[in-house]
Amino acid sequence: MTQKGTAILDMGDGAPIELPVISGTMGPDVIDIRKLHAKSGLFTYDPGFLSTASNSSEITFIDGDKGILLYRGYPIEQLATHCDFMQVCYLLMNGELPDNKQKNEFDITIKSHTMLHEQLVRFFTGFRRDAHPMAVMVGVVGALSAFYHEAMDISDASHREQSALRLIAKLPTIAAMAYKYNIGQPFIYPCNDLSFSENFLHMMFSTPAELYKPNPVIARALDRILILHADHEQNASTSTVRLAGSSGANPFACISAGIACLWGPAHGGANEACLNMLEEIGDVSRIDEYIKRAKNKDDNYRLMGFGHRVYKNFDPRAMLLRETCHEVLNELGLQNDPLFKLALQLEKIALEDEYFISRKLYPNVDFYSGIVQRALGIPTIMFTAIFAMARTVGWVAQWSEMISDPTYKIGRPRQLYTGTTMRDVP
Ligand code: CMC
Repeated sequence: MTQKGTAILDMGDGAPIELPVISGTMGPDVIDIRKLHAKSGLFTYDPGFLSTASNSSEITFIDGDKGILLYRGYPIEQLATHCDFMQVCYLLMNGELPDNKQKNEFDITIKSHTMLHEQLVRFFTGFRRDAHPMAVMVGVVGALSAFYHEAMDISDASHREQSALRLIAKLPTIAAMAYKYNIGQPFIYPCNDLSFSENFLHMMFSTPAELYKPNPVIARALDRILILHADHEQNASTSTVRLAGSSGANPFACISAGIACLWGPAHGGANEACLNMLEEIGDVSRIDEYIKRAKNKDDNYRLMGFGHRVYKNFDPRAMLLRETCHEVLNELGLQNDPLFKLALQLEKIALEDEYFISRKLYPNVDFYSGIVQRALGIPTIMFTAIFAMARTVGWVAQWSEMISDPTYKIGRPRQLYTGTTMRDVP
């Protein structure tokens, strides 16, 4: 961080306030308002954080106008093409890509943490049979807090790393068990002969009677989905994890909070909502009706899988998944799948519509990830759980970055009070 200049805030009272303007390594400069309140008694007002950088970070960079996404400086296109998810996890956590030896050791370490404590496995049966996997994940991930007391000193870097590795390794097991419980099949334990993505597919689709043989096309597509969702700078769930963590809460509780936030349909829940929307539309002939609804100011309806707070030209993750979507559907012989055709038609109509063009609303990552996951045979209720599995590494990397910064403070936003002024009880 370097100070580039000074911004002057002149309230017209003869005492202008000087505020430092700070540059990072890329992206817009920021006005440092940390001393604004002390100097002026004023707060800034920015609901939804439209103009606010909540922290500095070295992990992920986004340029929404140019459609650039970098993890630790590497373009997402290159990572998605040349790396697997484990390499990307290592990169996000450690700042550099692993060499072969580091990669092997990392794979082995993650595999050594894939099982759950058997007492934790019993938590699942406390949920209603039809519980949504995300509801189960919020609960079970939070419950991990009760199992690792010996390694939960957040001021100890080795404890932080241990918790981060446990979370990355156990999330697929928790997600797959949540699914198995939902459909009434026995839990399938992890198999450490398999890669991260293959193992997840095994836990989802094997039964004690029949072993699932991972299809390399499906495993590679899933791995790509995980890479593309691994981190996305200060999005709502990551900010939730940071805010929860800023009080000193343990990492399992913080990630559980992140999962809860991710579940919302405006965030990670959009992939499930998008597929449900496509099923509800049902036929190409009904697309216009839904586009009309999305454009109607008196209707809250939105086209799921369209629009993004930061990407205003294209979402690079969506471009990559669009490519994967075509590859997977061709490979699996599903090009004529009616829902896929409907999705392509909706994409075309929305991209040509003035309403969507003028508001820069493009298909986002969730639009294509739902279609790809459906083609891979993953049930709709698992889409957001897979997003959570992928984003866990981003959450733990961001949480750890915050805790290891000696200057971090508890997050405590202020407000513009608009309620009743002081009055006496009658
Ligand atoms: N369908 C119809 N209109 C939309 C949509 C949409 N999907 N998204 C935004 N708009 C309109 C909105 O009504 C507003 O119009 P106007 O200017 O006339 O009032 C304008 O576009 C700007 O919308 P906004 O709500 O101010 O934009 P935002 O940056 O606050 O919201 C968003 C971004 C992603 C929450 C929103 O586009 C949305 O709700 N999209 C659908 C849900 C979705 O796909 N979410 C996944 C996001 S990507 C993955 C992730 O983050 O997890």
